[in-house]
Formats: sequence, structure tokens, C-alpha cells
Amino acid sequence: MRFAKITERLQGLGSDKWAVHIEGKHREARGDKLIFLSIGEPDAAVPEAIMDVAERQMRAGRTRYSNGRGEPQVLRALSAMYSRRTGRHVTPSQFLFLPGTQTALYVAFMGTIDIGDEVLLPDPYYATYEGVIAAAGGVAVPVRADPDRGFHLNAADLEKKITPRTRALLLNTPGNPTGTVFTAEEIAGIGALCRKHDLWIVSDEVYATLTYGNTVFVSPFDDKSLEERTVVVSSVSKSHAMPGFRCGWIAASEEFCEHVLPLSETILFGSQPFLEDATAFALDNEFPEVDAMKVSYERRARALIAGINGSKAVSARMPEGGMFVMIDVRKTGLSGDEFARRLLAEEAVVTMPGESFGEGGAGHLRIALTVDETQIAEAARRIRRLAERVA
Ligand SMILES: Cc1ncc(COP(=O)(O)O)c(C=O)c1O
Repeated sequence: MRFAKITERLQGLGSDKWAVHIEGKHREARGDKLIFLSIGEPDAAVPEAIMDVAERQMRAGRTRYSNGRGEPQVLRALSAMYSRRTGRHVTPSQFLFLPGTQTALYVAFMGTIDIGDEVLLPDPYYATYEGVIAAAGGVAVPVRADPDRGFHLNAADLEKKITPRTRALLLNTPGNPTGTVFTAEEIAGIGALCRKHDLWIVSDEVYATLTYGNTVFVSPFDDKSLEERTVVVSSVSKSHAMPGFRCGWIAASEEFCEHVLPLSETILFGSQPFLEDATAFALDNEFPEVDAMKVSYERRARALIAGINGSKAVSARMPEGGMFVMIDVRKTGLSGDEFARRLLAEEAVVTMPGESFGEGGAGHLRIALTVDETQIAEAARRIRRLAERVA
């Protein structure tokens, strides 16, 4: 049989990135005791009060069809949240409720690019980005972010890669895997560049609530002059430890939402009303568990950095946000991939090689801050031990 081109475009964009994690899972099944730092899945439980709302609403019969935009309650909650954040009125018609940031990314690219269009992608980048760009027929154009500048990129780095086919920039701040948060100045420069070249900005803000120290999260969407060209994608997966709920959204102009509504309708025919109610409740209220989660990620990052600091073979810097730390293993002479494989084989620690996130991640390991401080400190000891053994 003859299959559609999209199936070819998406071939081979996945599993080898996860090879070390998959090997770790095989070993665990055989009885090995390992420390898993490979997957960015929050280890905290969903706040009890949110679980109660989901359950209550399901039992109350909120189990019928919804619609392609989302239930009025959740659109109102999003409108209130983004109006607070931006300081201007963001209307409920500026949102589409979708199953997670991942689906929102898919809709964002299906709505902005055509076959052969180029998308600028700061490198290293989140593992599914190449896939969502390729699904829409686009060409990902990686722009190397310098690890020695904390993976910060500025407009000048991006401008060199712009061609007549460039249509969009995919921004992820706070970044996965980098932990980098773009400053207001950087966002202003990037925004000016996108205005000049008439580019869309797809802004993945799934880690927006997780910033550390004095770092402030800044979104291009919050600048009124960039609103029409910015498509924010986000969710409660990380902020409220609810990845399995698959509750996310797009925030954009009314015009954008109007244009892509048929896409959402044809993919989904609406999300689950009881989960939309739970999301509305999550966004309308504050939860001690959510604050505690952020505090614990920050503590874990500090414990990891403290364990690595002072080594001549490896180094790491405190992330500005998100739930990952990049460890620089270049001085060992091993690639990130070789180091991650040896770390699993010799020290029973499972990490992601930086190369899984593009060439820009070469010579690094990505550590997910999803285990407690004691285990993180133990993992740091083992990483350091391996690095110093091979360096
Ligand atoms: C940068 C980034 N974007 C999107 C996602 C997917 O998020 P969601 O669960 O909301 O689909 C992740 C998940 O790890 C991520 O790290």
C-alpha cells in the first residue's frame, strides 16, 4: 500500500533518542537498582483539591461532548490568568483548549507553516520539536546556542539563519533541556527581528511557572506589539504535576484561534468536560503543593550543582528555570552519548545524552530533577566519579 508522505517525514524521529532510558528500563526489569534522571515527569502527586474536582465533575455528568474551543469555564479561567499576566484584556476567544502542549504545538505549526517553510529552532531543543515541524511539512533550522553563554541566544544569532522561506521561530523559555530563561532584553530583540522579517513566534511556555532565584519569566505574548504574531502553547502538565490529564491550550490572537478552530474540531471534536473543569479550578486557585514542587526542584538543582562543583572533569550551572540541569562532560573527552551509556553501565544512573536534543547539546547530559535530594546528591557523586575516572 502507498502511505502518505507525512508518515515518511516522521520516520526515525524518535526512539534512538531514548536508547539509554530504554536500556535502563530493561535493566530495571531484570532487577538492577538504578537512579532514573531521564524523564521530565513531575514526581509530585496532583494536588488533592484538583483531583476532587475532576472526580466530582465526572460523577456529576460532565462526561458529554464538549466543543473545539473548550468549555466556557476554562476559557474564562485562561482569560483571567493571561489578563493578569499581560496587564491587558485577553479575551476568552483568544484560547483553544487542547490535550497538552504537545497537541497545541501540532496545531500551532499546522496553522502557521506550509510544506518547505523553515522554522528557526534554538539548539539544543525539546525532543519532539523536529517531529511537529516535520508533520506540518516544515524544515527545522537549528540555531546553535552556545553552552558557554548559558545557552542564551540573541537576535543576531538568529538573523544569520533567516532566508526567504523562514516563517516561524520556535521559542522555549524556560528551556528544556537547557534551563535557560530569556531575559526581557533578549525577548525584545528577538521580537523586533520577528517583526522585521514577519515571522510567527511559537512560544512554548510549559515551564513558565518554574523560575529560580531572581529570574523573571518573560513572554513575547505579553508585549502588545507581538501579540498578533505570537502563539503561546502551554499546559498544567508541569505547573500542577498533571501530565496524564493532557490539559493544555493555545493563547494567541482571536484571528489565529478562528483560523485553526476547524483543525481542533477535526482532530478532537472537543476535550473532556470534567478535565476542563479541573483545569479551570487549577488555574483559578493557588495550591501549597504547587509552591512546594517549585521549591523542591530548586533545592534539587542546588544539591546537584553542589555535588558537581569543584570537579576538574565536569561542570554544571544552576538552571534559571524549568526542571532540568545540563552537565558539561566535554572535558572527559567523551560525547554526551558515550558518557550516558557508561554512566548507566558503570554507575547505575540513567540520564539523557545532550545529543538527544540536537547537536547543540553535544558533550552534555540532561538531568531531570525528578528524584529527591538524597538521590540527586548520590547521582552527582557517581557522575563525578565516572568523569574523574575517564578524564
Ligand atoms: C518543552 C516541552 N514542551 C512540551 C512538552 C509536552 O507537554 P505536555 O504534557 O503539556 O504535552 C514537554 C514535556 O516534557 C516539554 O518539555
